[in-house]
Amino acid sequence: MSGRLANEYKAWQRLQDLYDTDRNRLILKDLFAKDPQRFTKFSREYVSPDDPSTTFLLDFSKNLITEPIFTALLDLVREAQVEEYREKMFSGEHINTSEDRAVLHIALRNFGDFKIGESGVDEVDKVLAHIKEFSESVRSGAWKGYTGKTIDTIVNIGIGGSDLGPVMVTEALKSYAKRDLTAHFVSNIDGTHLAETVRLCNPETTLFIIASKTFTTQETITNATSARDWFLATAKDKAHVAKHFVALSTNTKAVTEFGISEENMFQFWDWVGGRYSLWSAIGLSIALVIGYDNFEELLKGAHGMDKHFRTAPLEQNLPVILAVLGIWYNNFYGAQTHALLPYDQYLHKFADYFQQGDMESNGKSVTKNGHQVKYQTGPILWGAAGTNGQHSFYQLVHQGTKLIPADFLAPATSHNPITNSLHHRILLSNFFAQPEALAFGKTEDEVRKELGPNATEPLVKSKVFGGNRPSNSIIFPKLTPSTLGALIALYEHKIFTQGVVWGINSFDQMGVELGKVLAKNILAQLGTPEDVKGHDSSTTGLIHYYQKHRKE
Ligand code: F6P
Repeated sequence: MSGRLANEYKAWQRLQDLYDTDRNRLILKDLFAKDPQRFTKFSREYVSPDDPSTTFLLDFSKNLITEPIFTALLDLVREAQVEEYREKMFSGEHINTSEDRAVLHIALRNFGDFKIGESGVDEVDKVLAHIKEFSESVRSGAWKGYTGKTIDTIVNIGIGGSDLGPVMVTEALKSYAKRDLTAHFVSNIDGTHLAETVRLCNPETTLFIIASKTFTTQETITNATSARDWFLATAKDKAHVAKHFVALSTNTKAVTEFGISEENMFQFWDWVGGRYSLWSAIGLSIALVIGYDNFEELLKGAHGMDKHFRTAPLEQNLPVILAVLGIWYNNFYGAQTHALLPYDQYLHKFADYFQQGDMESNGKSVTKNGHQVKYQTGPILWGAAGTNGQHSFYQLVHQGTKLIPADFLAPATSHNPITNSLHHRILLSNFFAQPEALAFGKTEDEVRKELGPNATEPLVKSKVFGGNRPSNSIIFPKLTPSTLGALIALYEHKIFTQGVVWGINSFDQMGVELGKVLAKNILAQLGTPEDVKGHDSSTTGLIHYYQKHRKE
């Protein structure tokens, strides 16, 4: 981040020229036909520097790029000083300038490798030891509820980064889970979420984990208070709260005021961003579900990717490669969205997780220096697990009018090889086929041949696949904790790299504030129609309708 707007970089201009001159020649069918080495040139195998079994292949050959374009994209990264900014992040400089904070999720999975001066970093091991000790005592049954029974249910109450990471990871690593410990996640302020969850819980055997960095988030504190009321309706004595409520937070004062003692609090620090916090105490529910050793493997997998991101040359650097490809489509092709399409049911929350990760980080339109950007920043991130998506939205991806760059992800080996892995082979045949279909399509001639005498002009046209739709494919041996850690860190650093090129602060989230403030004001006016003041006619009309029809 050099202080300049991204479109002022020389490499940006060069990319614009390349786009203008080469666009019509960037036809995947031709590019592959012309160059038998294309896959070799545009694919990279990641092998963790710490553990060779944590590995995956990134094939980015089905992108609308040539070698000069790839070179210019990497020049853009150099010119934007991503490498310098990366060092600032790793050394603990306060790169979250609007909040004057360091950005150190990498310190939560560091295992003593990188030297970081920020205060709190030297306490990480202590908190990990606390997570280990506590999770083991709950999982072993040593931790008892107020009537002496073993805990068999945990309920994580949190929202945003204090929910989505644990939800995604506990789903992704379900095959490592302790099956007799049920995990629920309550996030929505809608009372239905909590009510439907506690219906499934026994107060004697349930542990509530109140996860909130600030411990002031309205949804979480309201849900936590109602959960405590539900618990005390049976347990009666407030002293029993200690056995059934723990907190994950940076705010000791608010936690103790809520009634949770400091010894049942798992600390983290302001340099951990909410959407980057699953590696911190916020990961307690993960450790409870999959066990501490597996949680540590997750951290180690991410640490390997941190080392790779910090040291690999740009043309080998996988987060950088994903980042520049995203920039190519976002800023030159005008693509509005990016799809994450995991062919692994265990990863069915992966896109939901990165919706916050990417859109809360890079959904900004002002640079760090306060200038309005004159180009697109973060894409709309979305996706769903394959093959379900194929029977839902893929029609538009293949034949619609929009360009939707996509990442396909899949494991070579399933945790559930049922029917002699028949299911997995069918799944993977789709994982291989979809990027192929998107890239190479089906011509009019091919359709005509196929239809033979039945060909009518409208039918032929409707069956043509234009192709030339770009994608990345990521394939890994198996979805293990450390592979998942590496994949999450891969995308985290992709988001970082893009944010630096666009000159924005990827680590604040001012855009969530206004709605919160207005809701607070409206909450105080919901009593009677006379209380409703200071709104436009639309908002006033909606509130009046609610007041007329509510039955409480
Ligand atoms: O949505 C805004 C946000 O601040 C997120 O960044 C964060 O993950 C979430 O709210 C929850 O915040 P907390 O952990 O402080 O309750």
